Amino acid sequence: MSKGKVLVTGGTGYIGSHTTVELIEQGYEVVIIDNLSNSQAFIVDRIEQITGTRPKFYHFDLLNEAKLDEFFAANTDLKGIIHFAASKAVGESVQIPLHYYRNNLVSMINLLEGMKKYNIENFVFSSSCTVYGQPDELPVTENAPVKPAESPYGYTKQVNENILKDTIKSGAKIKGIALRYFNPVGAHHSGLIGELPIGVPANLMPFITQTAYGIREQLSVFGDDYDTPDGSCIRDFIHVVDLAKAHIIAIERMIDGKNAEAYEMFNIGTGNGFSVLELINSFEKTTGEKLNWKMAPRRAGDIVKIWADTTIGNNVLGWKAEKTLDEMTGSAWKWEQNYRSSAEAK
Ligand code: UD1
Repeated sequence: MSKGKVLVTGGTGYIGSHTTVELIEQGYEVVIIDNLSNSQAFIVDRIEQITGTRPKFYHFDLLNEAKLDEFFAANTDLKGIIHFAASKAVGESVQIPLHYYRNNLVSMINLLEGMKKYNIENFVFSSSCTVYGQPDELPVTENAPVKPAESPYGYTKQVNENILKDTIKSGAKIKGIALRYFNPVGAHHSGLIGELPIGVPANLMPFITQTAYGIREQLSVFGDDYDTPDGSCIRDFIHVVDLAKAHIIAIERMIDGKNAEAYEMFNIGTGNGFSVLELINSFEKTTGEKLNWKMAPRRAGDIVKIWADTTIGNNVLGWKAEKTLDEMTGSAWKWEQNYRSSAEAK
């Protein structure tokens, strides 16, 4: 017996695919909408390989209102929506802001309008710790002020949180939870799904695994003179499978009517800060690979240090990250190797 049908937008992407696997394993029926702008269709096969169930895949763009309406009309039994589909490259968002605003904001609006029209009640939004900027106090709690965004990408996260909050406040019969992720890394233990950036990775973990694999020559560590114990930036790296599980807990909280408010938001991190150099050390230790890296100048716009206060997430949401840094780096490496030797990478 299925626990109900959930729409995962961006379900072939990095976090979306891991969340789809967890949903299926916990008894949900999953339907995916993805435009494949930053992911590949074979991920649906991999999800089936892991879970034994093939999620139904709709290949279209959420900006296409007619298609989306057709989708909702054919899926009137949705228990909820988990919304990942968005453009997410910080640097690119500075180059092409209008694309980011249109894509990230209008798709959110289209989904919420569809929810109102088709009486879909529960919505999980994929937000980011980027809304805090450089927090004044660490660890950062959900009550810390939202700082002016450093990039159009970051601004779309802030605005989308407000769009969701205001829609709920306006009396729409919608409940919403925004999950503010810290830095997701790692991959499913099977090595069948993982982070698959197109082109040169902007993020640290895929740059590490691609360098170790020989696709990139050398990793640059951006900044060695920050006010941190080893001079490199500090992040709250969180295993993507732990992160995926938070989404199932969040949607169930609303389906079961356990949410305290119609709109809630939670930090999704481990509560531990590790530096860029500590992540590299963990990678070298767990994989036995020597990484070719060098110190490089600071990257513009980087936050120096941030990690989550997870008290509210742990006590109110009832979720806790379980996996270690070594599990994150080890699984990321397993995925990189598996993927590069697979038929799909050829
Ligand atoms: C950024 C965004 C975050 C977004 C995430 C995923 C901000 C403040 N943060 O996180 O909202 O969700 O990307 O797109 O906008 N580094 C290197 N060498 C590299 C790459 C990265 O040293 O080749 C360092 C960075 O300087 C940083 C750390 O690694 O200190 C993490 O960088 P990255 O993985 O890009 O994530 P964030 O910038 O933290």
